[in-house]
Amino acid sequence: MRETLPVRTKITTSPTEAAEFIRDRGIGAFPTETVYGLGANVFDADAVEKIFAAKMRPADNPLIAHVANLEQIDELTSVIGENARRFIEAFFPGPLTLVLKRSARVPLIATAGLDTIGVRMPRHELAREFLAACGVPVVAPSANLSGRPSPTTWQAVLEDLGGRIDCILQGEATEIGLESTVVDCSAEIPVLLRQGAVSLDELRHVVAETVELAGDDCEAAAKSPGLRHKHYSPTARVVIMGAGSSEPLPPSGRLAYIGISEGVAGGELQMVCRSVEEYAHALFEFFRECDRAGIEMIYCEAVPETGIGAALMDRLRRAAAK
Ligand code: TXA
Ligand code: MG
Repeated sequence: MRETLPVRTKITTSPTEAAEFIRDRGIGAFPTETVYGLGANVFDADAVEKIFAAKMRPADNPLIAHVANLEQIDELTSVIGENARRFIEAFFPGPLTLVLKRSARVPLIATAGLDTIGVRMPRHELAREFLAACGVPVVAPSANLSGRPSPTTWQAVLEDLGGRIDCILQGEATEIGLESTVVDCSAEIPVLLRQGAVSLDELRHVVAETVELAGDDCEAAAKSPGLRHKHYSPTARVVIMGAGSSEPLPPSGRLAYIGISEGVAGGELQMVCRSVEEYAHALFEFFRECDRAGIEMIYCEAVPETGIGAALMDRLRRAAAK
């Protein structure tokens, strides 16, 4: 992989100025309703390669293409089946990525050699203005260094990628805070590959046969390459605590707590959230805050696995598994 040379990272609030960098074959970060993404023109293989270099992302992990309108989906895909059409109608624009058969125009580097491509249409207003100004579909992984928690603020993007990317489109902290739901629609039965704000129940409401990715880790990893890699991890160790526990944290070490229950005593940093949604919104930035403060262990309260709670528990388990 080519190492990126330091570049000046322009920070702007203008979606058209940010889009200029993409049109000039560069790479730039932008906010969405889930997390910040790091974008490039999907059809420009050299620009796409810069994304992998800047993030130090393994080349076998495919990217999601972000579209401004439904017509752009046709440029990226060769077949859109009936199930995919129903999901598009129900959830686009929004926090859902569909894996579809890719068109011959999409360079292999974008899809890590797969014959499918992930497609998403964000609903975030600034993202939509930016994508429209780019004029092409924009591939964008989360705008973090590979393996770190996804960025939910532009400052977190700067922390990881300042001097490595051309531009950051500055927006608010992202609304949802966890990455999109990913559903493979390239075969007959839709398969949920990654949990997100669109829940399995909501998907099944639209296509009843939708299944969760099953099988052992190897089998699962073959279908969803992202699962092969470590994700969402702070440097600190993550420990999951039972829901509603009021046990105090252990007395030694540099500890932190995040959850919805009040009254968990101890720890240097504490974040008590008012709802599971707020917990999901705050989690990745809290992980980063803990790393900045030199925290060694982060105690995270478990939540019921309904709605966004399923995605939150998925991210907590991945962060704890190291
Ligand atoms: O919310 C999101 O999805 C954010 C924002 C920026 O849109 N993006 C994001 O991208 O989280 P990334 O690259 O960090 O995660 C993409 C996930 C990975 O787990 C990847 O393996 C999976 O989607 N994926 C992408 N294309 C795929 C494909 N063709 N087949 C199977 N999985 C795919
Ligand atoms: Mg990511």
